[in-house]
Amino acid sequence: MCGIVGYVGSEQAAPILLEGLTRLEYRGYDSAGIAVLTGSGPKVAHAVGRVRDLQAALPKRLSGKVGIGHTRWATHGPATEANAHPHRSADGRIMLVHNGIIDNATVLRTELEADGVQFTSDTDTEVLAHLIGRSEAPALEDRVIQALQRITGTYAVAVLDAQLPDRIVVARQGSPLIIGIGDREMFVGSDASALVRHTSQVVHLDDGELAIVAAGGYETFTADRARTSKQPEELTLRADELQLEGHDTFLHKEIHEQPTSLERMLSGRLDDRFATARLDGLGIDARELRGFRRVKAIGCGSSFYIGQLGASMIEDLARIPADAEAASEFRYRNPIVEPDTLYVAVSQSGETADTLFAVREIQRKGGCVVGLVNVVGSSIARECDGGIYLHAGPEVSVASTKVLTHMGVGFALLALLLGRVHDLSYADGARIVAGLRALPGQVQQMLDSEDEIAVVAKGLAQSPSSFFIGRVRGYAVAREGAQKLKEISYQHAEAYQASELKHGPLALISPQMPTVAIVPDDELVERNLGALHEIAARSGPVIAVTHPGVEFGDLAAERIVVPHGEVELDPIVLTIPLQLLAYHAAAALGRDIDRPRNLAKSVTVE
Ligand code: F6R
Repeated sequence: MCGIVGYVGSEQAAPILLEGLTRLEYRGYDSAGIAVLTGSGPKVAHAVGRVRDLQAALPKRLSGKVGIGHTRWATHGPATEANAHPHRSADGRIMLVHNGIIDNATVLRTELEADGVQFTSDTDTEVLAHLIGRSEAPALEDRVIQALQRITGTYAVAVLDAQLPDRIVVARQGSPLIIGIGDREMFVGSDASALVRHTSQVVHLDDGELAIVAAGGYETFTADRARTSKQPEELTLRADELQLEGHDTFLHKEIHEQPTSLERMLSGRLDDRFATARLDGLGIDARELRGFRRVKAIGCGSSFYIGQLGASMIEDLARIPADAEAASEFRYRNPIVEPDTLYVAVSQSGETADTLFAVREIQRKGGCVVGLVNVVGSSIARECDGGIYLHAGPEVSVASTKVLTHMGVGFALLALLLGRVHDLSYADGARIVAGLRALPGQVQQMLDSEDEIAVVAKGLAQSPSSFFIGRVRGYAVAREGAQKLKEISYQHAEAYQASELKHGPLALISPQMPTVAIVPDDELVERNLGALHEIAARSGPVIAVTHPGVEFGDLAAERIVVPHGEVELDPIVLTIPLQLLAYHAAAALGRDIDRPRNLAKSVTVE
């Protein structure tokens, strides 16, 4: 989603802001802007498009050591220069960048306009710039507090005052904001990637907190001016992890990182002696774990689909009821939160607003929620009662690949642990431990077949529409495969349970409608082949994603063969060829693979 960056120190601010914005582009990128306090007053520049377009639009002389910047993903108003941040108060003194949504912006705008304020943009953010500008409080931070008290909604803001060229005032409510600590210089960012080139020491603002950030230090406090004490944390992200390293896109790099990143994730988490998983971060002992009678995964988009996969692993291995729900729906339907249900919040970014609010709803109702999160120190990771860090490393491409595989493994570990405190035998536990150890090698084997999958993908890219089908364990795999293809190739793809085809969608099967069928060699293989007969009878072409030894006869024009391991874990490896299918289909169509249109990496608005 939108990105914020800020700098105050002894260096020129503009290049630091531009570099930070470039790193934030993956969050949202339809326009960008910066404001710098120069010796001859504030200078603000905006551009529609990429950060490189902003760079071209910058004034020649832009010398100043304090500034803020923003990349925008449009929510209120189209992507135009006028709507790009920073926004200014009517007198031009206040400059502000904002992530989030101001829910009562329309009411406030009407009120301000009635009072003679002329708006220059369609954004909700401009309301806040005017409110701060009109406040009569003497100190900038008090003006910000007064203005924020009038708004409802979510925000991370960074504010400059042309008359106070030594500081940035920042505030957070529901949208992430961090302060990076340098040597006589400070940084502000909505995301660690904006700061990582400059510092590894950061402070995460909590909801309801504000800070005055100056070159020599920072002061954090609440809206009633009570000082808060913050402990700087070490960033786990390294700047060199954000390079392409010979790949043409981050998506391709991230797909290929999986064997190594999975080894890292599993390291120290498999317990051979007791044939179980070691998940100390959960903070729940065996007796408490045994008390949970049900598991519910919540997440959005692909993280929700992997939650479905995880639920089926938990039912298979722990034999307790488990299901998954889209966090975006869960939080709005007044959910019944049960004390003996273990809730699992699934999120790559750890900042998805819908998932974060679902976590809070569960906690408000007394439920226990643990996180399956990649970004260390993110809001969801910090607010959950415990969790499993995914340790996938940074994921830059908007579409998620490697982190989803790590989520699958995270669920497998949780299922193993829950199984071993319930009824999973030592022998079955040992089988799963061995299966998990074999996973990185199986993923590598799949990646070694990339060239053959690329050929199949080029064919699939020619079809404007396709089906992805799977049954039980394979259905979540099919959903994720269809999602990936849609996101990055823009070709329509629809996932269906193989069992449901005959109840309607079969009407769409024709020689022009390919079906990607997930056919693992498990107890349902005959049923899956039955669905392929129904498709073949309507001359529908089939690409089967399957295991060695499954006989298709004439049922599948193409076969992608995936290494066969333990049936409960196989769905994890079955997702890998679907990542490659989507990548090569999108490449064949010349799409902007890392930055698909209309999408943002981290959806911090509701
Ligand atoms: C798909 C994708 C999205 C995310 C979803 C949740 O490739 O990336 O569907 O899975 O927006 O994001 P996180 O996992 O950050 O909560």
